[in-house]
Amino acid sequence: MRTVVFFGAPGSGKGTLASRTAKHHGLRVVSSGDALRNHVHRRTTVGVRVAEVLAAGRLVDDAIVADLMFSELHAASQDRASLLLDGFPRSLHQAEWLADTLPTVSRSLDAVVNLDVPERVILGRIENRWIHAPSGRTYNYSFNPPKTHGLDDITGERLTKRADDDIDTFKARIAKFNDTTTPILEYYHSKGILNSFKGETSDQLFPQIDHKLGHIFGFKQ
Ligand code: AP5
Ligand code: MG
Repeated sequence: MRTVVFFGAPGSGKGTLASRTAKHHGLRVVSSGDALRNHVHRRTTVGVRVAEVLAAGRLVDDAIVADLMFSELHAASQDRASLLLDGFPRSLHQAEWLADTLPTVSRSLDAVVNLDVPERVILGRIENRWIHAPSGRTYNYSFNPPKTHGLDDITGERLTKRADDDIDTFKARIAKFNDTTTPILEYYHSKGILNSFKGETSDQLFPQIDHKLGHIFGFKQ
């Protein structure tokens, strides 16, 4: 079963582009950030432990994220679903864990999609981002607004801001990303599966990514 990692800075569009790709081609997305926010929303034991870390924009403990990811990978493999991973891995240690774990759930890692979007573009997006916390659906008032202002398209429930989307926390997340990114990109480059896409909008990036993944998943172009 095939697996593709979506990698990129906070706000680069991993969630937007992974869910657009998944919708077009009937694939499944697993987002570590959405899974963690869902735990916070439901106030589970994990949610209570990680809430403060998420709100401060720091990385959650590897062991907690690995547990969560293992359950998601295992469930998707039971359904024989091809997977797009959004937000995992984000350290070399997590990348190595993924390489060891995928074969145990009958999966290969087929490509890494690296989104290379300028920081000034990203900063402009974040104040307009709103989410539906239970599902992780993401909106942006200047890019993909909800049909009714302030409400989720599917459930009609109220949209909220992410706890980590204030500008200072967001800058801390970008700084953390910049600190950890080079070793991961070098690791995947050395494995021959790194594909970088440069652009300012998801509309520029999506056709390029779709074309590349078409070869991997065998979509009709
Ligand atoms: P996570 O949820 O993964 O956040 P992130 O990596 O910081 O990325 P974002 O979700 O902010 O951005 P995105 O790239 O998905 O962009 P989006 O599509 O929303 O992680 C959050 C936290 O969880 C971490 O800080 C950490 O604490 C923890 N965590 C998660 N994974 C972990 C791990 N593996 N290990 C340890 N801790 C972990 O797009 C951004 C905005 O732009 C949206 O509003 C969107 O609508 C808009 N937009 C998209 N495209 C366009 C466009 N073309 N034009 C205008 N707006 C656009
Ligand atoms: Mg996201």
